[in-house]
Amino acid sequence: RDDYYGLEVVLSYSLFEKIDIIARSARICNKTGAPLKVTRALSASIDLPRADFDMIGLYGAHIRERQLDRTPLRHGIQSVESRRGASSHQHNPFAALVSRETTEFSGDAYGAALIYSGNFVISAEVDSFDTTRFQLGINPFDFSWKLEDGEEFVTPEAVMTYTDQGLNRMSQNFHNAFRHHLGHTRIRNKVRPIVINNWEATYFDFDEEKLFGIIDCCKGLGIDTFVLDDGWFGKRYNDVCSLGDWVVNKDKLPHGLDPIIERCEQNGMSFGLWFEPEMVSEDSDLYRAHPEWAIHKEGRPFCTGRCQLVLDLANPEVLEYLKKALSDVLANHRISYVKWDMNRHITDAYSSALPADRQPEIYHRYMLNLYALLDYLNKRFPDVAFEGCSGGGGRFDPAMLYYSPQIWTSDDTDAIERCRIQYGTSMVYPASSISAHVSASPNHQTGRLTPFETRGNVAMAGAFGYELDLTKLTDEERALVRKQVAQYHAYYDIIQNGDLYRLVSPFENDVCCAWEYVSADRSEALLTFVVTKCRVGFTTFIRLRGLDPEKRYQDVETGRIYSGDTLMNVGVNLSRYWKDSESLICHFREVTE
Ligand code: DGJ
Repeated sequence: RDDYYGLEVVLSYSLFEKIDIIARSARICNKTGAPLKVTRALSASIDLPRADFDMIGLYGAHIRERQLDRTPLRHGIQSVESRRGASSHQHNPFAALVSRETTEFSGDAYGAALIYSGNFVISAEVDSFDTTRFQLGINPFDFSWKLEDGEEFVTPEAVMTYTDQGLNRMSQNFHNAFRHHLGHTRIRNKVRPIVINNWEATYFDFDEEKLFGIIDCCKGLGIDTFVLDDGWFGKRYNDVCSLGDWVVNKDKLPHGLDPIIERCEQNGMSFGLWFEPEMVSEDSDLYRAHPEWAIHKEGRPFCTGRCQLVLDLANPEVLEYLKKALSDVLANHRISYVKWDMNRHITDAYSSALPADRQPEIYHRYMLNLYALLDYLNKRFPDVAFEGCSGGGGRFDPAMLYYSPQIWTSDDTDAIERCRIQYGTSMVYPASSISAHVSASPNHQTGRLTPFETRGNVAMAGAFGYELDLTKLTDEERALVRKQVAQYHAYYDIIQNGDLYRLVSPFENDVCCAWEYVSADRSEALLTFVVTKCRVGFTTFIRLRGLDPEKRYQDVETGRIYSGDTLMNVGVNLSRYWKDSESLICHFREVTE
């Protein structure tokens, strides 16, 4: 309490003792008798009495999200942040301070993540006495909030963990926190469906017949949900128009969505639909009717991104419009899945709904109303599963996970690139949140050729699905799809609920990459090994982690039996795998008799 002004700040802590997690937020209560202007409202600030840390962050770009970055701290302030109105591809709202000698499996690690999808900052300041101040919260850049007397401002929660067992344990703590404590139980416990998405199969170029062809091809493959991506609405033949006009494009789909939905159901699948609700195209009926609903200042030149503008969700009218527009589609069709995209970030931040002294509130009001919208739709349509997306993984953060328990990880679907992207993502986020699809080879982003098996093995480290033209698959590839679907079901529990161990980092090793999941009772382990670059004739033993040294485990495929001790200290001999992009999954099961 600040007695001079009569301001109160209540710090709230939630302790998750068993998984070494503390969540903290601040509530700023104006009891001063007059309005206040809040210009900085961070969620947590910790002083650590030492300076010999490395700072780890996840930086990136479109199709290169969440790459690992590790640099020693120096005196002064260093930070990662977003000023883009979304958590962003560029930096994730996570950072860790680790000892210089910390490795994947040993050493101090202080990790912090912010449950927020907008402008954030995470900083470490080393002062002249070698104390490190670690802070995170809403980015004070271009932010202020007018707090009337009697009002409160609540910051997002910061989620923090400490371990002396290295980065892997830090990640396991985050995984446990987000798997078991983030989002409604209905959402977080929902089994992720196997999806076939038509984006890389057709892009904008589809009609009813083409979709029927893909859907019919799914028969008997075990795929759960067909997701119709961008291009089904307005006059959408490319990305220059129609965002905001959420009515079916009758040239492409003359009979509407219903025949597509029925065709899915006839083939044993449910139906999912893509939206980009937060956007508007200049060439759209919505923009023509309400130019003032787009974020920009009338009379000034403004920027577009992917030919589109961002709707001003800080305006309550926009929130109400979106509730209705989306509900109209969802209430009138049997839709079980929504892919929620967001393909540009905010510039020209001006809201026609806010007075001059509240303009700096636009970014945060946008976020609060986005969450209100997602909350409304989740409650009104409890059977719909939401998948987050933002030009790939540009808004992959814990707050979006609260409403959409899985997020499209990257528009880069190349299995080898995905090893790095998914490895970085796994620093904070559990496999159940990482949408990962098998796509075509040569890959559309990199041109790389990879075996079908490897594309499946890498995608299996997430919420699994397909993103290719099934009508072009050979019989052999169709058999592989059936095999992968069966494997995904068999491994679902261990991957989604087991403990992750990152064994070989693609950021440190340019030849291979390996990771493992171990079941809670240590009776099963699943090892994935990928050759990321051919190096002929080298010797590779991959040592497992997290097993019981006293137990005996059988390799389900070869029948060979090892002691846990041997698997962890000698390893599995994978020296015969060296071809470019080759991979395998080994499943070990405890032998009890
Ligand atoms: C970006 C997404 O990441 C893609 O998967 C796809 O949905 C496109 N947008 C559609 O415009």
